Amino acid sequence: MKLKIAVLGGDGVGPEVTAEAVRVLRAIANVNGYEFQFTEAEVGGVAIRKHGSPLPEKTLHTCLESDAVLLGAVGHPEFDSMPRDKKPETGLLALRQALGGFANLRPVQAYAALSDSSPIKQELVFGADVMIVRELLGGLYFGEPRGIKDDTATNTMSYSRYEIERVAHIAFQQARNRRKKVTSVDKANVLECSQLWRLVVTEVAKQYSDVKLEHAYVDSFAMRLIQAPTAFDVVLTENLFGDILSDEAAVIGGSLGLLASATIGGEVDLYEPVHGSAPDIAGKGIANPVGAINSVAMLLRHTAKLEQDARLIESAVNAVLLDGYRTKDLVPSARKFNTTAEVGSAIERQCADMA
Ligand code: NAI
Ligand code: MG
Repeated sequence: MKLKIAVLGGDGVGPEVTAEAVRVLRAIANVNGYEFQFTEAEVGGVAIRKHGSPLPEKTLHTCLESDAVLLGAVGHPEFDSMPRDKKPETGLLALRQALGGFANLRPVQAYAALSDSSPIKQELVFGADVMIVRELLGGLYFGEPRGIKDDTATNTMSYSRYEIERVAHIAFQQARNRRKKVTSVDKANVLECSQLWRLVVTEVAKQYSDVKLEHAYVDSFAMRLIQAPTAFDVVLTENLFGDILSDEAAVIGGSLGLLASATIGGEVDLYEPVHGSAPDIAGKGIANPVGAINSVAMLLRHTAKLEQDARLIESAVNAVLLDGYRTKDLVPSARKFNTTAEVGSAIERQCADMA
């Protein structure tokens, strides 16, 4: 197995957490004799400082030449007042568009070891394991016309049958390998986009007779997701609803630092923790690397088709949490906690031991 992986640490805690994820991938490669080739490149604020652009041509080229991209995070307060083309976030958006992934997969689970970390009652979240599949290249974020003219602002929500079909297939394929249920979330009682969404998803479902499909309105679904997260398996939704619901779902797991994501379906798949550059804790070596490490488990699953190795990493994370390893975000009021590198190397050792 040979794999070319572009590593874009980015800003703030991004490079700190990606270093741990790369460390875990190297351990897996060593044990199994895989050849993983890592190429580092710059994106975001660090790229602006060095090259004057948040997504230098060379970085884009490196990514397009790779089998997968592993990204940390971008963003720093020093760029807040800069024009749009000099903002770190513009680099990430441009990269996502260039790579072309239209399906954003965000798994959320409640770790038994972290039962005290979620603000939600333990009996409600226990056993929760949800996969949110968010459409990423359509809807309000990209629709035309858009803009502000005089005293009126306009955004356009638009979806084609093709855009809905391709992301629906991904959701049903996910469900097939999980608990065989898709909840499609929309606002079909109000929006035409949602009416087409419901129609097309229902049609696609006919090709997956082993998977149960239910439809839900986004407003009441938002409530049920927190009240009864164990009722859901795969959640399929459009861009804006997915953005909001996946941040809401983060509460189930207990810390943003745990969450991973994969963006698939385009030229090159993109893997990144859900969190941002966390400038408030950057440079201290205390960021939680689990979100980044879970992201490389997804990389092995989706890009490399190494399901066993993906599960190995996920089991190692679980084992290390059960062992009591905790970064500060998981035990905010405790005086003792583990560093980023301590958690990363514990997971690395665990992977090597269990392999
Ligand atoms: P953030 O996700 O960076 O931080 C939110 C809170 O979570 C902070 O208190 C932070 O310390 C904590 N946190 C985040 N990741 C953590 C980790 N791995 N371990 C422990 N604690 C962690 O979001 P915020 O503060 O809204 O944004 C900071 C910067 O990041 C901004 O410039 C923003 O634009 C950018 N950003 C970038 C994203 C990306 O690159 N995908 C996503 C979200 C924000
Ligand atoms: Mg968001």
